[in-house]
Amino acid sequence: MTTHDDTARAILRGNDRGGYTVPTAGLYPYQWNWDSAFAAWGFSTFDLPRAWDELDTLFSAQWDDGMVPHIIFHRDDPGYFPGPDVWGTGHVPATSGISQPPVAAILARLIWDRDRDLGEARIRALFPALRAWHRWWAEYRCGSGAAAITHPWESGRDNCPDWDIGMADVDGSNVGDYTRRDTGHVDPSMRPGKADYDRYLAMVQFGRGCGWDQARIVRDGPFLMADPGITFILLRAHDDLAAIGRALGEDVTEIEGWAADLRAGLETIWNPALGAYDARNLRDGEFAGVLGSGAFLAYLAGAERPELEQHLLRSWDAVKFGIPSADPESAIFESRRYWRGPSWPVVNALIALGLHSGGRPELEARLRRETRELITRGGFYEYFDPLDATPCGGADFTWTAAIWLTWASPSAGETLAQGAA
Ligand code: DGY
Repeated sequence: MTTHDDTARAILRGNDRGGYTVPTAGLYPYQWNWDSAFAAWGFSTFDLPRAWDELDTLFSAQWDDGMVPHIIFHRDDPGYFPGPDVWGTGHVPATSGISQPPVAAILARLIWDRDRDLGEARIRALFPALRAWHRWWAEYRCGSGAAAITHPWESGRDNCPDWDIGMADVDGSNVGDYTRRDTGHVDPSMRPGKADYDRYLAMVQFGRGCGWDQARIVRDGPFLMADPGITFILLRAHDDLAAIGRALGEDVTEIEGWAADLRAGLETIWNPALGAYDARNLRDGEFAGVLGSGAFLAYLAGAERPELEQHLLRSWDAVKFGIPSADPESAIFESRRYWRGPSWPVVNALIALGLHSGGRPELEARLRRETRELITRGGFYEYFDPLDATPCGGADFTWTAAIWLTWASPSAGETLAQGAA
């Protein structure tokens, strides 16, 4: 009998394109940054060398300034838009011009913990590249105190309500004609709308127009918002990278400095009126005023607060299956539209990692139980309706299979492994 574990492994193997894994065939035919790091974590449950290969391939596309791009276009595929010609970064291999949530150090630490001897040479070789990427975040994105994004796609939570106020300032009226491909692969009602895409393209066109000069994009670009989600991920990643470095005998003073600065900057994204961490438009200082799953990633960085926990429990209790990506008690909530309400196994797992580190086993167990139910009922989909568990987005999804194998499956053990470096 085929088990869910067998299916999850088959999905990872099936999405393997040789050294890298696509998120899902059709909808996402290239290597995506944070998807790939989760793929590595998934592979680590049954093929550790392949897990390290995935991270190596990801970092092989690192830019000279340290950025690791959000998409690597290894082989042209007409089924995706916007492709390499639209981004026009001039890099080989072709890449996009923005980054994505820096989960790699967090997951590399967990992967290394599975077999310290086997992984030592691999993590030692990867360490300088990870540090260079973290330095890029510190230098180009953390000037305001928290981590900022220059395009909603950089957040990984593409169209979540956090970005609405920043998106409203972007002029998408002059981007010209284009044909979307995503809506040919999945139900358009589960994807971002046309007005969103016009603005996404306007931001890409600005970046391309200035030769992807990151300092210029931060200074003059159409969109710059502080992102609680990336801030917490980066903070945890700095701590994990420092732990890896110490275990390797490296000097980690610089990394500890970035972590201390970022922790001090958390005050800049605490919205007292909301009683939660909140995205902030860095062009005018305005808070988004919306509660989303990015704020709950605070647990990952040990930055949770009692007021935030009240919001977590309220919004979680208002749905049935995992943590909703937007507040289910607000008017903007849409239970099936991409990041405007659905429950994402990958975000549930990151929050669970934080709950585990913070000594909250009951909450972690609840999240795991609900995530497991989503996958066993609906299959390995990209995301799910948190009210009735309807599977949404792409099928046979790499990171959902990875989360199953590493955490949600009964065979994954009762709790998440925790780095011991
Ligand atoms: C997409 O094409 O929807 C991606 O999320 C962009 O990274």
